[in-house]
Amino acid sequence: MIGKCLFPVAGYGTRFLPATKSMPKEMLPVVNKPLVQYGVEEAIEAGMTNCALVTGRGKRAIADHFDISYELEHQISGSSKEQYLEGIRDVIDRGVFTMVRQREMLGLGHAILTGEPLIGAQPFGVVLSDDLCLNRDGPGVLAQMAALYEEFQCSIVAVQEVPMSEIDKYGVIAGTPERAGLTRVTEMVEKPPQDEAPSNLAVIGRYILTPDIFDVIRNTPPGRNGEVQLTDALQTQAREGRVLAYQFEGLRFDCGSVPGFVEATQHVYEHYYGKDD
Ligand code: G1P
Repeated sequence: MIGKCLFPVAGYGTRFLPATKSMPKEMLPVVNKPLVQYGVEEAIEAGMTNCALVTGRGKRAIADHFDISYELEHQISGSSKEQYLEGIRDVIDRGVFTMVRQREMLGLGHAILTGEPLIGAQPFGVVLSDDLCLNRDGPGVLAQMAALYEEFQCSIVAVQEVPMSEIDKYGVIAGTPERAGLTRVTEMVEKPPQDEAPSNLAVIGRYILTPDIFDVIRNTPPGRNGEVQLTDALQTQAREGRVLAYQFEGLRFDCGSVPGFVEATQHVYEHYYGKDD
């Protein structure tokens, strides 16, 4: 069983300024729940109750969100408003939250490496909370990937087809079919120009990583945009061992962009808000 999940939450959220000037972008609410809570709930559902947050300056609100608010509890205890705290109380009760600060933004690979002391030598999940994944009729995306890990015991990335005009925003894979919806990765490239992309299969922000990834990242030089890229480290793992790309069941919203965020908000309002699942 994979018990830990890493959340890189140190990024700036410049696309949402001024909203993110003094508030972490991960705390932006999709309807009434912060983005990062969706990711944490998905991890807990997958059995990854140990949530390792790689935070940075200005991100204290995230740590506070996953702690008791004594004043709030005291004020509303016994009142009709108490029900509004139930969801987050449940998350706090089920999860264990650990934190480390990333002092400099040197790329996703660097963020993952910063989380190493919280993870140790075991396989772990990664959630980029900008990508909101929902699967109303079945297990969440991380739970689907955790089940695959039990079978294959290797790093796994979630992928989906995207229009070629968007491909340069993503890590992109190519490979050989393993079975329906599953590809063995032979090539992986971070944010390629459209004419250099090996396919239209884009990596989205859900990963299962084997712990040797830490050593691989340590030996990975900066890549695209001068940043240490997780994609490059995974390419090494794919070359030297095995990495699988999984076309998941469910929906994914790019909440790192304003249109994706609005789309997610509409979807959640329509299909989840006010409904007990
Ligand atoms: C990161 C990864 C990229 C991946 C994307 C998914 O990029 O580096 O490989 O496709 O997340 O959202 P970012 O969007 O943080 O620039």
